[in-house]
Amino acid sequence: MILPIYLYGQAALRKATEPVEQGEVDVKQLASDMYETLTAAEGCGLAAPQVGLSIRMFVVDGTELGEDYPDCVDFKQAFINPEIVSLSDEQSTYSEGCLSLPGISENVVRPKTITIRYQDLDFKWHEDTFTDFKARIVQHEYDHLEAHVFTDRISPLRKQFIKNKLANIAKGKTVARYKYKR
Ligand code: NI
Repeated sequence: MILPIYLYGQAALRKATEPVEQGEVDVKQLASDMYETLTAAEGCGLAAPQVGLSIRMFVVDGTELGEDYPDCVDFKQAFINPEIVSLSDEQSTYSEGCLSLPGISENVVRPKTITIRYQDLDFKWHEDTFTDFKARIVQHEYDHLEAHVFTDRISPLRKQFIKNKLANIAKGKTVARYKYKR
């Protein structure tokens, strides 16, 4: 089932998230809905707060990024209760966008590599290290669980520049090409 994506201005994006307890949430069904939502919206990552759920879970799907980021073609997985283990000192800059902020893309500086602990859909723990674009997606989605969006991380000058765009999304004046809630 395709879920509506909550846009900037929705309280759900700024709420603290709760750990997911096994048996409490049907994570397999939710992940399947989130993948379907992501594919329909042509995105590469989606966090639970973006579909209005204040729980610590996100999914990534880089399978459509193949041409630009060949290392992402097999990068499709769910992260439950993720915890950052370490971040590299080395940083990189990429232009990011977000399904909750249609029409906005800005350069964001982030650590180049992340090591993260998380549970899979069977609640089995894993620890993995991701670098470059995979690390970027994981950090962007993890931010959503901390009630952040990527524009929180841009310079005050750039923030000033996109102030009206953000205000328009929050006021419901922006139209997205996918199913959304504003
Ligand atoms: Ni996002």
